[in-house]
Amino acid sequence: MHKRTTLRGVAAAVVTLGLGFTGLHAAAADSGPLKIGLILPMTGQQASTGRQIDAAVKLYMAQNNPTIGGRKVEVIVKDDAGTPDTTRRLAQELVVNEKVVALAGFGITPSAMATAPIATQSKTPMVVMAAATSAITEASPFVVRTSFTLPQAAVSIAEWANKNKIKKVVTLVSDYAPGIDAEKYFADRIVLNGGTVVDKLRTPLRAPDFAPVLQKVRDAAPEALYVFLPSGQGAAFMKQFAERGLDKAGIRLIGTGDITDDDQLNDMGDVALGVVTSHHYAANHKSPANQKFVEAFKKANNNMRPNFMGVGGYDGIRVIVEGLKASKGEGGEALLAAMKGQVFESPRGQVLIDGQTRDIVQDIYIRKVERVGGELHNVEFDVQKAVKDPGKSK
Ligand code: DHB
Repeated sequence: MHKRTTLRGVAAAVVTLGLGFTGLHAAAADSGPLKIGLILPMTGQQASTGRQIDAAVKLYMAQNNPTIGGRKVEVIVKDDAGTPDTTRRLAQELVVNEKVVALAGFGITPSAMATAPIATQSKTPMVVMAAATSAITEASPFVVRTSFTLPQAAVSIAEWANKNKIKKVVTLVSDYAPGIDAEKYFADRIVLNGGTVVDKLRTPLRAPDFAPVLQKVRDAAPEALYVFLPSGQGAAFMKQFAERGLDKAGIRLIGTGDITDDDQLNDMGDVALGVVTSHHYAANHKSPANQKFVEAFKKANNNMRPNFMGVGGYDGIRVIVEGLKASKGEGGEALLAAMKGQVFESPRGQVLIDGQTRDIVQDIYIRKVERVGGELHNVEFDVQKAVKDPGKSK
């Protein structure tokens, strides 16, 4: 017993000294807790994403208290402040020092992209719970995603706009990878269906100022403005949209559901009423599973409403834990294989982890912001079933 422990210690030390990741899994302890490294932006501009996912993972763990072959499952939360270099360093430390069986979290695309090579080299499954650029799942064969993709959401709202006789649009996106996806897939579909995009505007990911672009929107006078901004920026945008009188100028606001984020929606005020978006999750989604989830989430979190990030976290930890049950606590390829093909009922509806792409297949809803029981909600009124990421079809 003592001798085995010593040998393992030596193996681990060899790995830490820089001989690469080979032998890492052999070195992992086969007793003690099964550790999952959860890297989130708990501070900084994306802190609401971290707060939501952390709360959802804690809720799942409290509800299920998983043990696998007598070993407890333990989640180690690390704050990367949404800085990709930090995400990567924390991932490396979690793999080498903590011997985590899985990495999870990833609030923004650059953080996920920076970590993908670590997942590949160490053969550690990496569950993306938030970031949503289509290409992330192609950055490593060890990436599994439980959030969504911008092409999934963007195509559905473009179809809705075309069906509702919206012909002339301006797009406004955050100027980084998911924004580029959101712009391209929306614009291509609008044009395919006979509409026109008269201007394509972008704002920086960090500290965006919406005033200059909103002036351009006003001047272009489109029938609708289509917007993608990352979770947490919607409220500031809505405020500016109203202050500049665009809501009164007859310009319809549409977008992916990130702009009517349930984390902030109730504080956005009347400007948000009537905004139509497409997304995979609304706290107002009508199903017994979701009602149960929302109630438990609010109860555990001082009445905070879960948003799509929270659901990505709740489903992501579930996929890992169910995978570990099937792999009998083994990480690496065995855990990866056990995550592929999982089908289950999420608070958002039925989902599938596509065995080929490792991306999530899910229903995309068209929703309109309405007042429900004195609160602002995304009310679903149409659905496209079982949508695969359109970014993978080429
Ligand atoms: C990403 C981040 C978000 O907050 C969001 O709502 C969608 C995508 C991202 O960086 O991939």
